[in-house]
Amino acid sequence: MDRGMVIFVGALLTFSSSWLGLVLYPYWQLQNEQPYAKSPGDDPYPRPLAGQALAGVRVYQANGCLYCHSQQVRSEKFGNWWEDGQMKTGADIKRGWGARRTVSRDYLYDRPTMLGTMRTGPDLANVGARYAEPWQHNHTFNPRAVNSWSVMPSFAFLYAREKVVGGQKAAKALKLGREWTVDPGYRWRPTDRQWEAILAARGTAIRQAHLAGAVARVDPDSPAGRAELLEFWLTTEEEDYQVVPTTAADALVAYLLALRKGETPLPEAKE
Ligand code: HEC
Repeated sequence: MDRGMVIFVGALLTFSSSWLGLVLYPYWQLQNEQPYAKSPGDDPYPRPLAGQALAGVRVYQANGCLYCHSQQVRSEKFGNWWEDGQMKTGADIKRGWGARRTVSRDYLYDRPTMLGTMRTGPDLANVGARYAEPWQHNHTFNPRAVNSWSVMPSFAFLYAREKVVGGQKAAKALKLGREWTVDPGYRWRPTDRQWEAILAARGTAIRQAHLAGAVARVDPDSPAGRAELLEFWLTTEEEDYQVVPTTAADALVAYLLALRKGETPLPEAKE
């Protein structure tokens, strides 16, 4: 028999069977997937994203969040963890990443679907249920400002440092101590000489503010007292400048708050 013919037919079968199995069959199986409503009057789930949250998808994509974060909650049958020497399954649900596993219907409106492959950071499929807006902004601005041990990169370039006009900060201004906002994106500390100058200029006000909140009175002129005063002052907000989110940061956080894939019960996601 002609060898060329054998190779041709073999290759055809190989490629067409994988196309049938990996493209056509899943397409046929999932093409009629619809949002789910328990009873006819209920709001269907999922809903397409709109407005800021939709714009946030692009910011999420552009900044490579996908390389460190998955968006898929594993079923109770997967994800091992240990307790009292016994191996158990369902780590994702135990960690609070979702009340159930995620299924194809959860991703109905996702373009593209960002399941992810790496979990350098926690799964974000249901992160909207875990944190409020101010936390998300502080964490995106610099993860170390919230979790000192974090290895997530800072996205401070999504925020702007502005002068406060008329003594009134913007409603959106981040509530963070000056250690994070004097030099946005970095943790700032004054040099010894700068600290001396600051104390000389507004030492009395700083000492008063510190005493108002301090539990125990420390001698402000002892070395320990001065060190404590500096730590206290670094956690207070900067007066003249504020750090505000850009439209991109607002959109990104709106998207994170809209990520609630592991909550609404679905009949096909029992575990
Ligand atoms: C280099 C890897 C890396 C990249 C890139 C990254 N992260 Fe993270 N992320 C982490 C790690 C590690 C943590 C856990 C520590 C922490 O909370 O900061 C985390 C935590 C988080 C959390 C808190 C999750 C929870 O359940 O506590 C959110 C929200 C988050 N990241 C959002 C983002 C967004 C949005 C982006 C893109 C703008 C991003 N991350 C990019 C590594 C990364």
